[in-house]
Amino acid sequence: MSRENTNNVLEINDLYVEYRTRDSVVKAVNGLELSIKKGKALGLVGETGAGKTTTGLAVLGLVPDPPGVVTGGQIILRGEEILGRDAKYLRSIRGKKVSMIFRIR
Ligand SMILES: Nc1ncnc2c1ncn2[C@@H]1O[C@H](COP(=O)(O)OP(=O)(O)OP(=O)(O)O)[C@@H](O)[C@H]1O
Ligand SMILES: [Mg+2]
Repeated sequence: MSRENTNNVLEINDLYVEYRTRDSVVKAVNGLELSIKKGKALGLVGETGAGKTTTGLAVLGLVPDPPGVVTGGQIILRGEEILGRDAKYLRSIRGKKVSMIFRIR
């Protein structure tokens, strides 16, 4: 498992996510880079469809597949690579090391 900068709670490197539907491919996240240091907060701002929710889902390993596919990049959460990990590992960290608060419209 890669251990990158240990001051970072989260590090996303060159992340690509797409949704492959029957008649199109939506490139939802394209080469995203970000990092969050311990004790810091980061806000993601962007127009509707910019890929904010998809980014959050990717960190939780919850991009719906199909139609969603993470096609490249690295997501390092507390020193552990997230991408490619099995469902059991991802379940074990959700709600403990990483959570998502869904917006109520
Ligand atoms: N399940 C899906 N199937 C196909 N396309 C999807 C799916 N989910 C998201 N998309 C597409 O991926 C792109 C990114 O969507 P996403 O929901 O991540 O954006 P967002 O920045 O959270 O938008 P919003 O501000 O409206 O919440 C959009 O073009 C969206 O239509
Ligand atoms: Mg959203």
